[in-house]
Amino acid sequence: MTKRKVYMDNNATTPLHPEVKNTIIESFDLYGNPSSMHEFGRIVRARVEEARVTVAGLINADPHEIIFTGGGSESNNTVLKRVTCPDRFCFHCADHKNEIVTSVIEHPSVLQTADFLKGSGVPVHYIPVDRTGKVDMNVLSDVVTDRTFLVSIMFANNEIGTIQDIREIVKLAHSRGALVHTDAVQAIGKVPVDVRSLDVDFLSLSGHKLYAPKGIGVLYVKKGSPFCTFIHGGHQEDGRRAGTLNNTGILGLGKAAEIALKEGAEEAARLLKLKARLLKGIEERIPDIVVNGHPVDCLPGTLNVSFPGAEGESILLYLDLEGIAVSTGSACATGSLEPSHVLLATGLGPEIAHGSIRFSMGRENTDEDVDYILEKLPPVISRIRKMSTAYQGGKA
Ligand SMILES: Cc1ncc(COP(=O)(O)O)c(C=O)c1O
Repeated sequence: MTKRKVYMDNNATTPLHPEVKNTIIESFDLYGNPSSMHEFGRIVRARVEEARVTVAGLINADPHEIIFTGGGSESNNTVLKRVTCPDRFCFHCADHKNEIVTSVIEHPSVLQTADFLKGSGVPVHYIPVDRTGKVDMNVLSDVVTDRTFLVSIMFANNEIGTIQDIREIVKLAHSRGALVHTDAVQAIGKVPVDVRSLDVDFLSLSGHKLYAPKGIGVLYVKKGSPFCTFIHGGHQEDGRRAGTLNNTGILGLGKAAEIALKEGAEEAARLLKLKARLLKGIEERIPDIVVNGHPVDCLPGTLNVSFPGAEGESILLYLDLEGIAVSTGSACATGSLEPSHVLLATGLGPEIAHGSIRFSMGRENTDEDVDYILEKLPPVISRIRKMSTAYQGGKA
């Protein structure tokens, strides 16, 4: 009998949607360079521009505000490193307005970039979060001043799913004359994101989190916002991002955006029910658990739970033996045994943070998948807890 396979690591990456896969396969025959003036090029250019319109529609942007990039990390790096006055060679607009404000729970592609800039002399402030993962608005209000040129706060967290109040953050930042970037990589396609009503200046998204391929992303730059090219070279993307366009990725992303526009709301409601079923089942079957993330403002398919007395890596490996794929901490942190910076920032002790599992559901997950996890997980936790000398049944 073949073992059941349950993939519940969709925040790390998603499988290609079958329609996206077909679009990509077909696109391999469209080999013309979209910058070429002949028919081969023009055909591809037309398809790329169609995809741009669809992707813009997904976030209510103007197509000219969409720059295709190599993914979320590149979009984030571009904003943080290159939002600068074009006539200056340095990273910031003016010596008296050069501070960056970000949060302590950002993805490494923002945090490490901020650390790099700090090392280069740019003042950086890191805003703390509360137990649910929401940024502390009082600290934000104290720290954002007329010296701040950029506030970069993620829309939704990849590990615990907490969704920030971006509209409030934008209002505050704009009132002090600062620009706002949001890393919406985990939110796009899962919850509605409207750049016009949010009034953000920059937004990052990534194809492989919404059933499109890896290595394609978008940077939204609001019309009129200061911007400098990060990758110099050809005149692609109106001179804002050089490099022959990744046609297959762009067309795949366009198809994924079309599907998300059509099915996103219904799928979110379905995932929310699936998550409730999983959480209820865990609560009924496993004593002494800690649920992480915001109880309401959270991505519909993301559930992060700590199992005190059980190491996250051991849980992951035992579940893997049963054909179940979940994650501890973020995918990028895998390989290091450091407890998750996000969970620590929410006030969880390192011991408990170590025993945390992220279940991130996607379009292929079903009630049967949840029930399979509910059958396999409880014995795994009790086996690991029995082996733990430190665990004393809820008193650890
Ligand atoms: C919140 C967030 N931002 C950025 C990224 C990086 O995106 P990419 O893998 O496309 O570089 C990820 C990927 O895990 C993410 O979860």
